[in-house]
Amino acid sequence: MERVVSGIRPTGRLHLGNYFGAMVNFVKMQNTNECLFFIADIHSLTTHPTPEDLHGNVRQTLIEYLASGLDPEKAVIYIQSDVPEILELYTLLNMNAYVGELNRTTSFKDKVRQNPNNVNAGLLTYPVLMAADILIHHAAKVPVGKDQEQHLEMTRTFARRFNNMYRVEYFKEPEAFNFGRQLIKIPGLDGSGKMGKSEGNGIFLADEPEVIRKKVMRAVTDSGPVTPNSPVSEPIQNLFTIMEVVSEPSTLEYFRESYANCTIRYGELKKQLAEDIIKFTQPIYERMKELSSNDSYIRNVARQGAEKARAIASQTVSEVKEIIGIKKF
Ligand code: TRP
Repeated sequence: MERVVSGIRPTGRLHLGNYFGAMVNFVKMQNTNECLFFIADIHSLTTHPTPEDLHGNVRQTLIEYLASGLDPEKAVIYIQSDVPEILELYTLLNMNAYVGELNRTTSFKDKVRQNPNNVNAGLLTYPVLMAADILIHHAAKVPVGKDQEQHLEMTRTFARRFNNMYRVEYFKEPEAFNFGRQLIKIPGLDGSGKMGKSEGNGIFLADEPEVIRKKVMRAVTDSGPVTPNSPVSEPIQNLFTIMEVVSEPSTLEYFRESYANCTIRYGELKKQLAEDIIKFTQPIYERMKELSSNDSYIRNVARQGAEKARAIASQTVSEVKEIIGIKKF
C-alpha cells in the first residue's frame, strides 16, 4: 500500500468547499492507502496565534476531521507538535536549504507582501518544515492543492539533495497528488469564485441550521431569465453546483428546467437548497457536538496517533543522523 501524508492547517472550521474538495477524498483514501493525516500546528505559529486560539483551533479541527469521517482505526491521525522528531528532521534539513531558493518561494513572497511586519524565519523555512513532515514518513504521495505544488517540488529537491550530498538513496521523492476529475470545486454564495473562509460566502459544517438558512437566502442571484433556454449566469450556476452535491438529482433537474422555461423562483430554489444542505451537514454537526463533549476520546485519538507516527518518525531520524555522521559515543 502506498503511503500518503497530508497536513492540514488548524483553521478551526471546515466549510463545504473543504469538505467536498478534500475531506471526501481523504475519507475514501483511508481504505485504499496507508494514510497519515496531521494537524500542522507548528506551521500555524508563523502567524502568531494566541495560546487559546491555537489550542482551540487544533481541537476543533481534530473534531471536525473525525466528524467528517477520518477514522483513527484506518488512518494515523496526529498533531504535528506531538511528534518532536519532525522538528529534529526540520533542523537537519535546514542545513541544506538555501536562503536564496526559500526567498524565491511564491508563498513566501506573497506573505511578505501581505504582512511586511511579520517576515519571520519560520515563514522563510515553512517549506523545509513541510518537507520534514513528508520525508519523515517516506511518503509516496501527498494530496495537495495547486497552491502547495511548489512546496512539494521543494520537498523533492531537498530529498534529492540529501541523497546526493551523502551518496545514499535514502529519501524517496514524493509525488504531488490531486484528485483530478474527482475534485469538486464548491463555489461561494457571493456570486463568483470559490467558497472560502470569508464571512458570507461560506457555509461551515459547524453552522447552526438557522445560520445556514440565513446565508443561503442571502446568496447572490441575478434578475432572472427572460428568454427560454438562456445561458445560466454565474451566481445561479454556483447554486446549481452546490445543489449537485447535496440535493437529489430530481431536485436539480426541476430547477434547471424551471430556469430554462423562465418559471424559476429563486426564493424557492434557495429554500430547497438550504434544507438540502442542512440535511447533509446535520449528521456531521451532531457528531461534532458528541465529540466536543468527549474529551477522553479526543485525547486518546491524539495520543494513539502520536504514538504510531512517532514509531515511524524516530526510526527515520535515527537513520538520518547515522547517515549524517551524528553517532552515539
Ligand atoms: N502547507 C500545507 C497547507 O497550507 C499544510 C501542510 C503542512 C502540509 N505540512 C504538510 C500538506 C505536509 C501536505 C503535507 O495546506
